[in-house]
Amino acid sequence: MTNLQLFLDIATEAALAAGAILQGYLGKLEDAITEKGRPGDLVTVADKASEKVILEILRRHFPQHSILAEESGKLGNQENEYLWAIDPLDGTTNYAHQYPFFAVSIGLLINGVPKVGVIYDPYHNELFRAGTGLGATRNRQPIKVSETSELNKSILVTGFAYDRRETSDNNYAEFSHLTHLTQGVRRSGSASLDMAYVACGRVDGYWERGLSPWDIAAGIILVQEAGGKVTAYDRTSVKIESGRILATNSYIHDSLSSELLRVPPLSSWV
Ligand code: IPD
Ligand code: CA
Ligand code: CA
Ligand code: CA
Repeated sequence: MTNLQLFLDIATEAALAAGAILQGYLGKLEDAITEKGRPGDLVTVADKASEKVILEILRRHFPQHSILAEESGKLGNQENEYLWAIDPLDGTTNYAHQYPFFAVSIGLLINGVPKVGVIYDPYHNELFRAGTGLGATRNRQPIKVSETSELNKSILVTGFAYDRRETSDNNYAEFSHLTHLTQGVRRSGSASLDMAYVACGRVDGYWERGLSPWDIAAGIILVQEAGGKVTAYDRTSVKIESGRILATNSYIHDSLSSELLRVPPLSSWV
């Protein structure tokens, strides 16, 4: 068994265990929901319980590896070339409202490059996995991106960062612009599932800003292994720390990138 396969299998074990915890708390949170500081930026006991089990499993198997987890921050030796980027509950707002669209996302970066990714949606029991050279799967069956090649025949998905209320750089203009140019733009509330849906061809492209590495580490390798393309908005290499990402089926990549770079001010559409 290659190392990547081993990493993938242990990440899968962790994601399945965490997903079972999320399912267990769903609809039973009562007062166990708090704000992290910014309005609308929630955290629940489920986020924390999910993260705890993921950390236990990964640290037991890979005690030398470094970790970046949404609720615990940086853990372990940050100099280590292996970094696990963990989102224990991607889609917390959905989850807190019992809107059933959320996931566990676990990505492994080696020297800063995403190599292994697992995204698990426990409500719909969909397990997305990928590793460099190992392909991309949904419930262990190979997946690939869509073949839509024209923006006006495409469906896209995006998201909005929690600081959207305080910043003018907030994705509203892009959302409006692309809504007019495509068959629709969805806002699902789970960045990792947005990328999983690009990977399995349910949407043709995804863009977002204000993201964190744990939102997209797993999704990047999933989209790439499913035949898609992942870059910055301007088609240069994606920088996971920048928080901005463009992930598509590859066919609409250049046209979506061009539109993102020439978005008119919002008022011109109204
Ligand atoms: C959020 C979700 C959402 C995206 C936000 C993320 P969280 O993650 O992925 O879709 O639009 O930018 O912060 O807080 O639910 O893990
Ligand atoms: Ca997230
Ligand atoms: Ca989260
Ligand atoms: Ca969060």
